[in-house]
Amino acid sequence: MKDRSPLVKKIVELKKKRNAVILAHNYQLPEVQDVADFRGDSLELSRIAAKTEAEAIVFCGVHFMAETASILSPDKKVIVPDINAGCPMANMITAADVRKLREEHPGAAVVGYVNTSAEVKAELDYCCTSTNAVAVVNYLKQEKEIIFVPDKYLADYVSKKTGRRLVSWNGYCPTHIKILPEDIRRERKFHPFAKVMAHPECLPQVVALADAVLSTSQMAKFAKETEAHEIIVGTEVGLIYRLKKDNPGKEFYPASEAAVCPNMKRTTQEKILWALEELKEEVRVSDEIRGRAKKAIDRMLEIV
Ligand code: 13P
Ligand code: SF4
Repeated sequence: MKDRSPLVKKIVELKKKRNAVILAHNYQLPEVQDVADFRGDSLELSRIAAKTEAEAIVFCGVHFMAETASILSPDKKVIVPDINAGCPMANMITAADVRKLREEHPGAAVVGYVNTSAEVKAELDYCCTSTNAVAVVNYLKQEKEIIFVPDKYLADYVSKKTGRRLVSWNGYCPTHIKILPEDIRRERKFHPFAKVMAHPECLPQVVALADAVLSTSQMAKFAKETEAHEIIVGTEVGLIYRLKKDNPGKEFYPASEAAVCPNMKRTTQEKILWALEELKEEVRVSDEIRGRAKKAIDRMLEIV
């Protein structure tokens, strides 16, 4: 870590003293990514949370991600620097909504995106992330009917990739829908040699124009491996910091500057320091919910 400001020094010292690890999602502010021990997408961060030997996990992301870490590592103290960093898409569906869907579609398998609350995960048969949603649905070949919640656009993408009709929910990411097909067309005109990456939470019309549809860490991998020197990035703009840092010889252009997730920007270095000082705010899931939610996450981890 090159930046050794007094604040960063304090964070590093206190992290050691607390035997803590700092995890940051790929959309976090540069200053947060710079003090993190690990950066990643939802799947990678869950896996690290499940394996870490640290006593405390400082989770820099949004609430459902910290909850997932707590479900997988109940003996660890999972703390979030800003308790108000939530995911509006996750808030678009409740556990009661999932139970009602089950009643309306008896016998259907229920797959839910990781962008859901612990209570919703407790109602699922399988969890999935943007990395493995297609693999999870493909695994369910024997199932007559599949419910897929809450993201209708991810459901549309998975349905097209697997050839399965899915019962979907009217959820969506308010940040990704800001990226419009005309943004992709305009950027392609400006950068005719560029490849276009899009997140599967984007509008289907945007996904249809992309060269590659990927999770955020898959985008980081694609950017490294592609021979293209210019890439148009169809996701939350925060990923571009990591892409530029990892690939100094390449150019990255946001598909739309409007694709900013305000919740992902709530965490700062100061808040990380306070979280380490006070070991707050802790995110905990009740044992009853945890046990049921963990089954859906474990099933996903077994498939992939
Ligand atoms: P990834 O798992 O691809 O990082 O996506 C998480 C997310 O919230 C996207 O909006
Ligand atoms: Fe939720 Fe969208 Fe923000 Fe991801 S970018 S955390 S899906 S609101």
